[in-house]
Amino acid sequence: MTTPIIIDCDPGQDDAVAVLTALGSPELDVLAITAVHGNVPLARTAPNARALVEFAGRPEVPVHAGCDRPLRRPAIHAVRIHGESGLRGFEPPPARRPVEAAHAAEFIVETLKASEDVVLAALGPLTNLASAFTWAPEVAKRVKQIVLMGGGRGVGNVTPVAEFNIYVDPEAADIVFRAGAPIVMIGLDTTWQALATPPRLAAWRKKGGKAGQAAAAMYDNPARFDAKRYGEEGLPLHDPCVIAYLLRPDLFDGRHCHVAVETGSPLTLGQTVVDWWGTTGQAANATVLSRVDADGYFRLLTERLARLG
Ligand code: BDR
Ligand code: CA
Repeated sequence: MTTPIIIDCDPGQDDAVAVLTALGSPELDVLAITAVHGNVPLARTAPNARALVEFAGRPEVPVHAGCDRPLRRPAIHAVRIHGESGLRGFEPPPARRPVEAAHAAEFIVETLKASEDVVLAALGPLTNLASAFTWAPEVAKRVKQIVLMGGGRGVGNVTPVAEFNIYVDPEAADIVFRAGAPIVMIGLDTTWQALATPPRLAAWRKKGGKAGQAAAAMYDNPARFDAKRYGEEGLPLHDPCVIAYLLRPDLFDGRHCHVAVETGSPLTLGQTVVDWWGTTGQAANATVLSRVDADGYFRLLTERLARLG
């Protein structure tokens, strides 16, 4: 039995590691990659996604380009972190095939109309998903599961309380959290436990094949280490947590609870307000993860990256 998934992403260094991990995992049937604006503009994320599937030896996986800006706000990018190309440190050969003609949101809608088994792995701002659910609200309830990297419990990396993917398009995140699909949210408080430390980078290089080498090249960046914040030398590896959760949910702990997204306040814009203790009495709309077994996570990634040869 394989799980059909669509990976919606903004590659992006950690998106790239997530895509490669998924393509190295026989349990997952990657139906398509849908690209969204985010770490770098869509004009980069879509070709990057194509370059990644071809690098992985899976050129038949279609890539659909989606929204090039948030629903109601100007685009914000993270070029300082991911580089102008989005894949700083790794230069895959340029894509040979073009992206598909259909818009990402259209592909998501049509795929969900045809099947109730599809998992959406959301690794960037949620504009493509929100557009799909706005265009065809009935498909949200047909999603098997949305597993998303975004938000956090009381922490942020753009503001003290807002994480990049949610902050960039809070209106889209709000639509997705209200849409009625089963959601698993993996926020910063969890992904900050998943540090690509120097010994883990060495393991990628030694045992992870060409994809492990590529991942290590993107993450070997001591200038960005922040041991005070993360407790250890290394960089948090956010997005592959989504793929790891689909493969090995036992590596994670979490709790079913209500999540709301702040779309109004300038002070807390983009905060995911997680009702961890059930204070509001509102019905749960997400499983919010809070812990990852980081050693198990990195062992899994190394093994899956290695399968790409
Ligand atoms: C998230 O923002 C992006 O920079 C990363 O790709 C990840 O999806 C972390 O806040
Ligand atoms: Ca991302």
